[in-house]
Amino acid sequence: MKSAIYPGTFDPMTYGHLDIIKRAANIFDNVVVSVLDNKEKTPLFSVSERVNILKEATKDIPNVSVESFSGLLIDYCKERGIYVIVRGLRAVTDFEYELQMSQMNRKLSDHKVDTVFFNTTLKYSYLSSSSVKQIAQFHGDLKAFVPDFVADLLYERYKNK
Ligand code: COA
Repeated sequence: MKSAIYPGTFDPMTYGHLDIIKRAANIFDNVVVSVLDNKEKTPLFSVSERVNILKEATKDIPNVSVESFSGLLIDYCKERGIYVIVRGLRAVTDFEYELQMSQMNRKLSDHKVDTVFFNTTLKYSYLSSSSVKQIAQFHGDLKAFVPDFVADLLYERYKNK
């Protein structure tokens, strides 16, 4: 069985993320999408809310599961016994950061963990969770960027802010 971990903040998950998840699920036997409990960011949605959003969006993909983690990604990979990390590359601007992270993770894992990059589908190459949140704040149209239930959660969240 070839398994991979797709880590991220997913605050919230967008169609860009879902595109990577589906394509990874076509290649790997098992894909674990894992939400980072990131103390450096102030997320709009809690870890469990982000996990639930991902679970709902991927419920029809049998070889995808959703979890959360904190601490070093490499420790989580070791704990799960998974040695492939999946990441998406949207544009050249992502490349430097992603390259550095993949080199560091490889080094930290004694060259056991590799990162596989998917180029993001062109129509999602400009998409980010921050831009989606900004649009939601002003009640803009989110149809092209996130599933309807995620848009509703976003509008609801900003209504109470
Ligand atoms: N479609 C749409 N948006 C995408 C995307 C895609 N395919 N890929 C990335 N993005 C966006 C995200 O929406 C997010 O947008 P935002 O900045 O507006 O919120 C941004 O790109 C960053 O995405 P994310 O994938 O969540 O990365 P991250 O930088 O927050 O986290 C981790 C990356 C989780 C892999 C990394 O921080 C990590 O491993 N942390 C654990 C600590 C560790 O091990 N550190 C050592 C590593 S060297």
